[in-house]
Amino acid sequence: MKITNICCIGAGYVGGPTMAVIAQKNPNIKVTVVDLNEARIAAWNHDDLEQLPIYEPGLDAVVAEARNRNLFFSTDVDGAIEAAEMVFISVNTPTKTYGKGKGMAADLKYIELCARQIARVATTDKIIVEKSTLPVRTAQAIKSILDNTGNGVKYQILSNPEFLAEGTAVQDLMAPDRVLIGGEQTEEGLKAIQALVDVYSTWVPDENILTTNLWSSELSKLTANAFLAQRVSSINALSELCEVTGADVNEVANAIGKDSRIGPKFLKASVGFGGSCFQKDILNLVYISKSYGLNEVADYWEQVIIMNDYQKHRFASKIIQTLYNTISGKKIAFLGWAFKKDTNDTRESAAIYVADQLIDEQATIAVYDPKVTAQQMESDLNYLGTRAEEENERFLMSIKDPYEACKDAHAIAVLTEWDEFKTYDWQKIYDNMLKPAFVFDGRGILDHQKLETIGFQVYVIGK
Ligand code: UDX
Ligand code: ADP
Repeated sequence: MKITNICCIGAGYVGGPTMAVIAQKNPNIKVTVVDLNEARIAAWNHDDLEQLPIYEPGLDAVVAEARNRNLFFSTDVDGAIEAAEMVFISVNTPTKTYGKGKGMAADLKYIELCARQIARVATTDKIIVEKSTLPVRTAQAIKSILDNTGNGVKYQILSNPEFLAEGTAVQDLMAPDRVLIGGEQTEEGLKAIQALVDVYSTWVPDENILTTNLWSSELSKLTANAFLAQRVSSINALSELCEVTGADVNEVANAIGKDSRIGPKFLKASVGFGGSCFQKDILNLVYISKSYGLNEVADYWEQVIIMNDYQKHRFASKIIQTLYNTISGKKIAFLGWAFKKDTNDTRESAAIYVADQLIDEQATIAVYDPKVTAQQMESDLNYLGTRAEEENERFLMSIKDPYEACKDAHAIAVLTEWDEFKTYDWQKIYDNMLKPAFVFDGRGILDHQKLETIGFQVYVIGK
């Protein structure tokens, strides 16, 4: 079966870039990305590529090439589903904030709505592809909805989890370590798998396309993220031990990373991991393990989250303690709000939690981030629900100029590893701050010796 028409439900961080690359690499396939959010679709269609709703290096060029050739962004969800032979589901699956599994299980509300919508409008057979990260055996639920509410249309469900990392999405999509496709091991299932393999094989070498059964594919995604997050929590756990023993976490990371069995990547100590995937996926793994009665397995993975929460908390406490245990009325500048560099995504960013703890102590936080809007920062803080929105507004300011953000501040905290921070005129920043002037480098990116020579008092995580 040759695919000529693809629909993707959800024009977010995953759906948008993934479909842009699929369309660019397959000019003969019409790819339509749909979303309920009209403003988001309008932004994807904006003439000015600076206005795309998602910031990813290199994405503008891919969109410029494929958009309105064979890549389309639309709010006509029904029309696009109907016309497609293959429908990707790429909607959000946040952690549940209510009811059973609250704070742990994935909220599958949006997935179920998609399945029901497909069942309602489809008149021809379709291959449904799960792109969002889902708990194991979600495909079963989707299948059951489609088979029982549809009108005789036949469906095949595939799991094709996305492994792109934000900030390097285009690069990761262009040259993926692997593409994983899971499907039913029946004649029809294998045909569906092959149809999706053909879409990717226009640019991904065959040996990098893995096919598995559905459940292996779903579980592999959770496992990959859990292993990556575990590495960050492991090195972060060591960062505190380094601080008290006089070891340097970067030297330790370098030394262990040279061991080919361990490897050098993902060993950067930080103020804590963020992003939409790590925490959610581990919580999912924990919830699934618990629901099968595997309490030791659940506890093992939960510790990765506990360590991460502790690291954010420890960083904020370090600031408070260093500033003589009183930060009420003091201005603290934040460099960075995004959960990592080269993205405007702030989901689960460590900055939000550190700000929250400092605002509890009535400090004023002046944030500069090159890509995050003031509105986003406010809504992130309000989402925690710690205090009234007016209070948050009073204590959190977004400043468009980094020098202005640091002016008259008692301390600077680096929360995101944006490259531009390294190129600032740090002498000028120092001159305009209150003394003693402190820098808390939560990402270990600044030249701390240089800062100390200028006169700053510097704290670097893991040193
Ligand atoms: C992750 C996975 O890498 C990706 O494969 C999956 O599809 C989605 O989840 P992402 O969340 O975009 O991607 O970012 P990632 O680069 O994995 O970083 C996650 C967090 O860990 C960031 O906050 C990052 O700053 C932090 N991190 C990463 C560290 O603190 N230290 C490291 O060494 C690496
Ligand atoms: P991700 O990082 O997984 O891509 P996002 O939140 O960035 O997550 O994107 C998910 C998108 O899915 C959002 O833009 C949301 O509006 C969209 N969405 C959710 N449910 C539906 C639905 N039933 N139909 C169409 N779009 C949907």
